[in-house]
Amino acid sequence: MSSGKVYARLSEVFALAPVIPVITIEDAAAAVPLARALVAGGLRVVEITLRTDAAVDAARAIVAEVPEAVVGVGTVLTRADLERAARIGAAFAISPGVSLDLLQAAALGDLPFVPGIQTASDLITCVTRGYELVKFFPAVPAGGLATIDALGGPFPTVRFCPTGGIGEANAAQWLAHPKVVAVGGSWVAPVADIKAGAWATIEARARRASALLPYSQAAQA
Ligand code: 3PG
Repeated sequence: MSSGKVYARLSEVFALAPVIPVITIEDAAAAVPLARALVAGGLRVVEITLRTDAAVDAARAIVAEVPEAVVGVGTVLTRADLERAARIGAAFAISPGVSLDLLQAAALGDLPFVPGIQTASDLITCVTRGYELVKFFPAVPAGGLATIDALGGPFPTVRFCPTGGIGEANAAQWLAHPKVVAVGGSWVAPVADIKAGAWATIEARARRASALLPYSQAAQA
């Protein structure tokens, strides 16, 4: 798929909700009730991280049984992870970092890919290959909004989905930045709440998160 089409498709996905819950799931049976709680709270886009043995089955179950959810597969570190994400039927794949191998593999397939960046060098790797929508990870430890401001100088067209250290207390501040399309984080559905089946708590958190306005929508309101 051309980089322009990938950017357009990803921009549509990232406009569906201001917050993308980053999910680490240890029991695939929890996936469908979890996704239903998030969708009920207004968060349709989820990132299922490939950090557990249950992740693939969990992502597959959501794709099959929760059609309103848009499933991204995260913690994509290798070409094999990218292929796994495509087989699951994910809407996109997302990585905490970037490598030439990942970008080459992504360019061969149809699955929109969001590389992760932290530095200007990472951005050169991405931008010179047509990737202009990137994850900024770990956002808070890597300098926060000041880093996005600084990177905006040499890379004025890049848009960011920051994750890492973002929570209910600071999400609105991140979303108010014109270069931020959405934010991600584990705070909406933490591992302990998933284990406990605390769907109502997760839904309430999702509802508060979904009420946040990204800059693009706040500017029109
Ligand atoms: C990610 O992969 O995006 C992070 O693990 C999310 O970071 P957080 O746990 O600080 O929200």
